[in-house]
Amino acid sequence: MTPGPATILVVDDEHLIRWSLEQQLRREGYTVLLAETGAEALSRAQAESPDLILLDVRLPDADGLEILERLRAGDPEALVIMITAHGGVQSAVRAMKLGAHDYVIKPFDMEELKLTVRKALETRTLRRDVARFQAELRHGSGLGDIVGLSRAIRDLKALVQRIAQSDATTVLLEGESGTGKDLVARVIHFESARAKHPFLAVNCVALPEHLLESELFGHERGAFTDAKALKKGLFEQTDGGTMYLDEIGDMKMDLQAKLLRLIEEKTFRRVGGMRDLRVDVRIIAATNRDLAKALEAGEFRKDLYYRLKVFPISLAPLREHPEDILPLAKHFIARFNREMRREILDLHPEAQACLTRYAWPGNVRELRNVLERAMILTGGEMLHLEHLPPEVGASPADRPPAPQTSPKALPAAFPMEGVRLEEVERDLVRMALDATEGNQVRAARLLGISRDALRNRMKKFGFLSSS
Ligand SMILES: Nc1ncnc2c1ncn2[C@@H]1O[C@H](COP(=O)(O)OP(=O)(O)OP(=O)(O)O)[C@@H](O)[C@H]1O
Ligand SMILES: [Mg+2]
Repeated sequence: MTPGPATILVVDDEHLIRWSLEQQLRREGYTVLLAETGAEALSRAQAESPDLILLDVRLPDADGLEILERLRAGDPEALVIMITAHGGVQSAVRAMKLGAHDYVIKPFDMEELKLTVRKALETRTLRRDVARFQAELRHGSGLGDIVGLSRAIRDLKALVQRIAQSDATTVLLEGESGTGKDLVARVIHFESARAKHPFLAVNCVALPEHLLESELFGHERGAFTDAKALKKGLFEQTDGGTMYLDEIGDMKMDLQAKLLRLIEEKTFRRVGGMRDLRVDVRIIAATNRDLAKALEAGEFRKDLYYRLKVFPISLAPLREHPEDILPLAKHFIARFNREMRREILDLHPEAQACLTRYAWPGNVRELRNVLERAMILTGGEMLHLEHLPPEVGASPADRPPAPQTSPKALPAAFPMEGVRLEEVERDLVRMALDATEGNQVRAARLLGISRDALRNRMKKFGFLSSS
């Protein structure tokens, strides 16, 4: 329903009916539009897209059912309640088949009609909420939402695309915390033919063992003391879709056996059930534990491990593809700009250098959090060093320099024709001042000298008039 009062179009050739419906519906707070003929109904519906249409089956210029068909062809979402004459049950049935939401029989009881109208509008709101919810879930879950141009990310995307196209493959996602396992699981689902069906995520450590089993597989009535009624499990509710089992490494052994059976035979039993039930669910399991170690320790079933391992995807820690750090940072800045209605333009070169050098133990999630915090802290349009947390923003001079960022002025091998130390020093001072846009405190920090020592050199090299 559009915000504000719902608009209802009343289509009837009988003046008295139009008039009384208009009075009653207005009193309920609706905006009421009127039409006498089929042609008028079509043009008003098109011009004003009402939230609901009350349509008489018998119209002077056309068959109401034909108008219904044309309304629904113009807008498949059109919500129509037919008004049929007493004894017109057959046309009511046909109307429902043609997509009418409901029907009322003339002469109708006003209270009943109002109730029918209210219910129809509620269904519409609900339907739109569901559609919006699905769109939101889907949003941010396409292949394009995996950001990065490194080899690691390109390979990952190619793999994800292949798996999305092969409908039933079970997948095992392995990677440190924050490397994108949840993201990849969602992308596989929403890029696959299963996208129209549910995507459900279950965390295997979040629930105690006995609850996890009845959550996943459901239970029959009376299966245990609290099982007052039959309950369908998550696997049944996910039929046709994808089940994401997070932290699979922590699933208890006997549950692992049931999961294996589900993967191999696509059948399972509810807790306390005698009957095999069949479902079609793709399983994507994830772990940030080393499953091979759990296997050795006897905490993970070998057969399940090898079954999951058929299609493993290993997500690289961010420090192994540092070339993606800045593209990811820019992606998050753009995203938070949208969400926070901000207009941050860029990252200061110094801040960029810090982000690139940091080891990111918390991977992409940590990077995202650092940028979100920085964007909240800054009042301006630029993210600076001081907006980064201390462990990230520590002066690069305090750390061993990464090889790809050593100044160009420094040759890789000592030039046998010789160098003038003073010239190299001058170049380095110049570069430090350029990188910090002339900020002497920061340039000194970058060079590992005091500000006075920097100023002395600047004077010596003629960067400062003597003052
Ligand atoms: N390559 C990427 N491109 C864009 N966003 C990413 C990428 N990798 C991870 N992210 C984002 O980083 C955040 C953390 O990722 P995610 O939750 O998928 O990690 P995870 O591997 O499931 O971590 P955990 O093991 O802690 O559950 C999410 O906001 C995710 O969207
Ligand atoms: Mg996760």
